[in-house]
Amino acid sequence: MSGRLNPLLFVSALLDIASAANIFVSHYTGTINVLTLTSTSSGGYTLTQNSSLNVGGQPSWMTFDSSSRTIYSSDETGWGSAAITAVTVATNGALKLIGKTNAPLGGVHNALYGDGYIAHAHYQMSQVSTFKLPLTSGQGPLETFTFTMSGKGTNPSRQDAPHPHQALVDPTGNFLLVPDLGADLIRIWSINKASGKLTACPSFTQVGGTGPRHGVFYGKDILYIGNELANTVNAFHVTYPASGCLSLSLTQSLTTLAGNKTAPSGTKVGEVYIKDKYLYATNRRDLSFSPNDSIASFSLDDAGAMTFQQITSSGGTYPRTFAINKAGDLAVIGDQTTANVVIVKRDPATGLLGTQVASMRIGTVGQPENDDGLSAVLWDE
Ligand SMILES: *[C@@H]1O[C@H](CO)[C@@H](O)[C@H](O)[C@H]1NC(C)=O
Ligand SMILES: *[C@@H]1O[C@H](CO)[C@@H](O)[C@H](O)[C@H]1NC(C)=O
Ligand SMILES: *[C@@H]1O[C@H](CO)[C@@H](O)[C@H](O)[C@H]1NC(C)=O
Repeated sequence: MSGRLNPLLFVSALLDIASAANIFVSHYTGTINVLTLTSTSSGGYTLTQNSSLNVGGQPSWMTFDSSSRTIYSSDETGWGSAAITAVTVATNGALKLIGKTNAPLGGVHNALYGDGYIAHAHYQMSQVSTFKLPLTSGQGPLETFTFTMSGKGTNPSRQDAPHPHQALVDPTGNFLLVPDLGADLIRIWSINKASGKLTACPSFTQVGGTGPRHGVFYGKDILYIGNELANTVNAFHVTYPASGCLSLSLTQSLTTLAGNKTAPSGTKVGEVYIKDKYLYATNRRDLSFSPNDSIASFSLDDAGAMTFQQITSSGGTYPRTFAINKAGDLAVIGDQTTANVVIVKRDPATGLLGTQVASMRIGTVGQPENDDGLSAVLWDE
């Protein structure tokens, strides 16, 4: 060995760093944060705050465009004015606001679609809006769709009006789907990719009181929707007629607890997520690991049939958001009310979630049932 030290080896030996990954976290108090998860060669993990930017309003959801390294953040502000913001993330973790425009109130989710457009679900306003990118101040929506109901739904306190909860683009990029929690509908539009204009297709009607919230595609022919009011996951077969509208047929419905057990009163399914042939649903306020909640996992067969696997602790309360890294060996859970980011191990072969390896509080904790605390987590991948 020569007398010279390789400075990089020297630093990583000092810090004992085996690898690092970044995680984006939004908080209802107005911030977007970057955390760095460091794994050490001895098998431990640490979470540290890397950067933070106050974008204002009540950030509720983030979509990350990895090609432009831009986060698009929805704003759930319910009075005055709300916005949609675009923030870039430099490779050193630095955040920069690059676009912001007014949007209808109560924005809860967004999706990129077509040749440079973003669609937005507005829970409180019973609306879906679309915008052309890039976002510039005062630009206004491209289109706005407002929904009505003739009376209250099966669950009158939650279904007082239509409540669009997600903007979901199908894998062909030709259709936009919006689960409407208030109206028990999965709304469907066909997309004109060039103009960004949407054309309404017939909706899929759920059983009254189902409360569809978020969906996820499995390949192009299977769709799962997590239902916040029924606390179930529904599986659908998707058909794409040669010309016309995407349509759905329901194939299976399972609750998110073992043995079809009904979730405890107060439970609200949050996120649904797929990695390879495994599906996950977050059980907010089921208190299965009291005071903590749970994440349910299901294995999927080739036809998309779900088999319940297990529930594991969310490591906090109100797991609103959940994501698995590309390698499939770690999952991040965003617990809203306890405002903590939890990292758990995952076995890529079996899909099973394992032990918690790190947890970090971000910002102020929330109150149960309020729009506060932590709102969304994503891997920087
Ligand atoms: C922030 O993240 C970047 C990208 O991973 C990394 O290079 C940088 O060291 C991190 N900074 C801190 C303070 O953790
Ligand atoms: C769960 O409910 C579904 C639909 O009612 C049924 O097909 C399935 O057999 C049930 N599974 C269990 C484990 O009870
Ligand atoms: C709940 O989660 C916290 C934070 O992650 C953890 O410290 C605690 O041990 C958990 N409690 C139970 C009963 O799982």
